[in-house]
Amino acid sequence: MRAIIYVFSGTGNTMRIASLYKEEFEKSGVITTLYPVHSDMSDLPDPEGYDYVGFAYPIHAFNAPEIMLSLAKAIKAVPHKEYFILKSSGEPLKVNNVSSLRLVSLLKRKGFTLKSEYHYVMPYNMIFRHTDREAMRMWETAKALSAVEAREVLAGAMHKLPGVFFGRFIAWLLRIEQVAMRVNGRFFRVDKQKCILCRKCENSCPEGNIRIDENGKFTFGKNCLMCARCSFHCPTDAFKIGILNSWRVNGAYPLDNPMDETAPEPKHHHGWYCKRAYARYFAEAQDKVEKAGKGQ
Ligand SMILES: Cc1cc2nc3c(=O)[nH]c(=O)nc-3n(C[C@H](O)[C@H](O)[C@H](O)COP(=O)(O)O)c2cc1C
Repeated sequence: MRAIIYVFSGTGNTMRIASLYKEEFEKSGVITTLYPVHSDMSDLPDPEGYDYVGFAYPIHAFNAPEIMLSLAKAIKAVPHKEYFILKSSGEPLKVNNVSSLRLVSLLKRKGFTLKSEYHYVMPYNMIFRHTDREAMRMWETAKALSAVEAREVLAGAMHKLPGVFFGRFIAWLLRIEQVAMRVNGRFFRVDKQKCILCRKCENSCPEGNIRIDENGKFTFGKNCLMCARCSFHCPTDAFKIGILNSWRVNGAYPLDNPMDETAPEPKHHHGWYCKRAYARYFAEAQDKVEKAGKGQ
């Protein structure tokens, strides 16, 4: 058996989730390809030959990033192909459930049928930085939950996320973000005092939107997706992301390092943010993992 997951990931969270699925699928003998989605759609793998097909993306302004919509337009039509969606977001808000509506309708035109959809809360890459401990809790939760849910996908289980009142309208309205971000991307700037010209931003931009000439002059094109890869991974935090600069989060979370559980939690002013929604997310995830462990 073979599986393919078309993954777009700005700063790595969604790729981490997709990798967990790959690991779990391969334990069951399903050879899994993770296809990193980028602007050149000419080499898109044909989904036809795969037994399991998935699409994975980070939620941007309660929608799928525009590059996933381009993918849905470019992918080969395959009648009656069932697929699953994986998505990651920084908030556990139910309104995030509307994010796949447009993607699902574009894929439907190509003959695809949504079988299951799963949502993982991961450390925020925009607006504010979670503490390392919060980030680790999200990651540990995603690891435990995805093991259960990947097995559901293999078993062909249906899993739909609940709808949201006025959801279609909210998602449609917020698609304005995709236009706004392309404009905002033209206002990116680089702090020349900090920049070490490592070209990490230029080389990793999924849209090839950043150019640095031989004199070290930066040019920003009009295709920014606002995935934040350039600023998040900048080793010297030299990137300024236009009008959203005060929301910039820089530097990967130390998710692969063991945490010192005895270290005091640093105080930060976002402890109140979506507190009940996070508590509900963790409780529901724990409940599902425990039930799966008891074979319920
Ligand atoms: C431009 C932008 C918009 C975002 N909008 C949302 C949002 O509407 N809801 C949310 O919960 N998280 C939002 N986030 C946070 C990301 O969805 C979250 O950090 C995600 O895990 C990033 O995944 P990635 O590392 O694969 O890019 C947004 C992030 C960015 C950069």
